[in-house]
Amino acid sequence: MRLSAEFRAQYSQHEMRTHGRKNGFVTTGQEARLLKWLPIVGLPKDKTLAKSNIAEDKPVVLEIGFGNGDFLVDLAEKHPDWTLVGVEIYLPGVAKAVSRLEDAGVIERTRITQLPAQYVLEHQIQAEQLDGAFINHPDPWPKTRHHKRRIIQKDFATLLVSRIKSGGFVKLASDIPELAEWMRDILDNTEGLTNMAGKGGFVGRDEDRVFTKFEERGLKAGRKSQFLHYKKL
Ligand SMILES: C[S@@+](CC[C@H](N)C(=O)[O-])C[C@H]1O[C@@H](n2cnc3c(N)ncnc32)[C@H](O)[C@@H]1O
Repeated sequence: MRLSAEFRAQYSQHEMRTHGRKNGFVTTGQEARLLKWLPIVGLPKDKTLAKSNIAEDKPVVLEIGFGNGDFLVDLAEKHPDWTLVGVEIYLPGVAKAVSRLEDAGVIERTRITQLPAQYVLEHQIQAEQLDGAFINHPDPWPKTRHHKRRIIQKDFATLLVSRIKSGGFVKLASDIPELAEWMRDILDNTEGLTNMAGKGGFVGRDEDRVFTKFEERGLKAGRKSQFLHYKKL
């Protein structure tokens, strides 16, 4: 079984330049689940979140770069009233997450896309539609000449904040100190956001936060993660 060109064009191809891996091995079983579920919970590029038949008057929370879905599945299980929007450009990650969300019986409360977060925020999510957003361990792109590839940039932060409701949150994590400080410095200076730890600060780890693959990988390498929590005024 293969995902057809037509299917990929709808769910994963986009004109925007992105960095990082997008394709990779997907088992036949995972492909079957993608073919079954993306037409139901996928956000093809010409469909907005508002038109995706989500529950009205329920919190809508976004996770950008959900990897293999550790955090997304856990959020869906902990918050049965939330609609979760999961965005991840790496197809094998999307495939794993879709399988895990189905197995956990929570997939119908999610909307999943392989399109890049920048596209989704700009074209598919409307102003003040989100109650919150999580970004856990985004790619650090450590070389100075690659800093432009980091997802958190001034314009990206402004776009993200415009999609969050007043009173909503943005929560981030990184196990790379330089990236954690980079994200903090940009978000501390983004209009409309208040750092819940005070300007320049980091919050403690939420007690109920599940360990993601990259938080665990950091710990094994001796790196303790840092956490940021912002509220939109
Ligand atoms: C270092 S991994 C972290 C995965 C997971 N959040 C964790 O904590 O284990 C960063 C993830 O962000 C995804 N990513 C990178 N750029 C993205 C973009 N523009 N839109 C959506 N996801 C993106 C990557 O494919 C990758 O899976």
